[in-house]
Amino acid sequence: MEHRSEMQATELLKAQSHIWNHIFNFINSMSLKCAIDLNIPEAIYNYGQPMPLSKLIISLQIHPSKSSFVHRLMKILIHSGFFATKNVAKANNNELEEVGYVLTDSSMLLLKDNPLSVTPFLLAMLDPVFTKPWHQLSMWFRNDDATPFQTEHGITFFEFFGCEPKINNLYNDAMASDARLVCNLLLDDMYKGVFEGFESLVDVGGGTGTLAKAIAKSFPRLECTVFDLPHVVAGLELEGTENLKYVGGNMFDVIPPSHAIMLKWILHDWTDEDCLKILRNCKKSIINNGGKGGKVIIIDMLMKDDEKNKGVGDDESLQTQLFFDMLMMVLLTGKERNEKEWANLIFAAGFSDYKITPILGPRSLIEIYP
Ligand SMILES: C[S@@+](CC[C@H](N)C(=O)[O-])C[C@H]1O[C@@H](n2cnc3c(N)ncnc32)[C@H](O)[C@@H]1O
Repeated sequence: MEHRSEMQATELLKAQSHIWNHIFNFINSMSLKCAIDLNIPEAIYNYGQPMPLSKLIISLQIHPSKSSFVHRLMKILIHSGFFATKNVAKANNNELEEVGYVLTDSSMLLLKDNPLSVTPFLLAMLDPVFTKPWHQLSMWFRNDDATPFQTEHGITFFEFFGCEPKINNLYNDAMASDARLVCNLLLDDMYKGVFEGFESLVDVGGGTGTLAKAIAKSFPRLECTVFDLPHVVAGLELEGTENLKYVGGNMFDVIPPSHAIMLKWILHDWTDEDCLKILRNCKKSIINNGGKGGKVIIIDMLMKDDEKNKGVGDDESLQTQLFFDMLMMVLLTGKERNEKEWANLIFAAGFSDYKITPILGPRSLIEIYP
């Protein structure tokens, strides 16, 4: 009550709203997941014009008793930018208008048939295997487990996938969907030069090979290798083509010799000590390949300095980086790094120089040289 006298009513209510919005942030994610599970973006896309609520309801496979709830789900998803509305003339009566739903850029990117679809990533990240560890966060601060994921599941993140083929596929599909989007940008004529002038490339932790496959296709004279844990590449060897092969192994032991080494979304999974081991193995791999030139191509976030960025710039992209930084803490032992942290790692691993190109939204291309 003492607080009340110090706070103006408007400030008090603003603070309460702020808290409510953060308590219920998960409603945004869960409403979006529901729309994806119900194939709402597909229904609107297939309709081919602004889709009235009545038509949307008919097209969804839902119980008739739930018809009257659909517009409430749509309301919050319009608010969060996943759908928009347009006025359309009512059939058979040009004078009357009704509202129809249309897709936005974000829901276009969630269409399951869109080659760049982000839906596999959404389905993995919102699966209970990935969301339950968040309930262990405070417990983890009090125990000595390496991650909240381990507190929840009793096993490390990558070991878990080795034992759970269904979740392994869900996760690998999520990574493949992101790799498709990144390839689309990276193999654009403007940036293709990054891969030129080399005879071989190893994509370390390359998952099921989406990125390496696209690079191999674009550069038929480049020998590409997808290197990942044995349970990830098992059975994929047959999918190899003339200039693409799959190799199972452990990047902490040895990385196959190569001129260029790709590390996409690898280093942010690991502690500084583990990153040093990986980077030193990358350097050995380049040296064991004759040592002439070579580079490591990293795709990861370059964390904005939150003090410097206070109140300026693209706040949404800083939010994304903060989310990923927390995600790395909860699922794995890694973190997102700012330029100084990257430079420390790169030089401590024995590399001589680096170049950062911020071409992937909140992520950057970081080329490092032996
Ligand atoms: C975050 S995913 C990134 C996948 C892929 N590079 C991409 O961005 O689409 C991390 C990858 O590292 C692989 N990985 C984890 N530990 C590894 C190890 N010790 N040796 C090789 N690969 C490993 C995982 O199996 C997974 O495919």
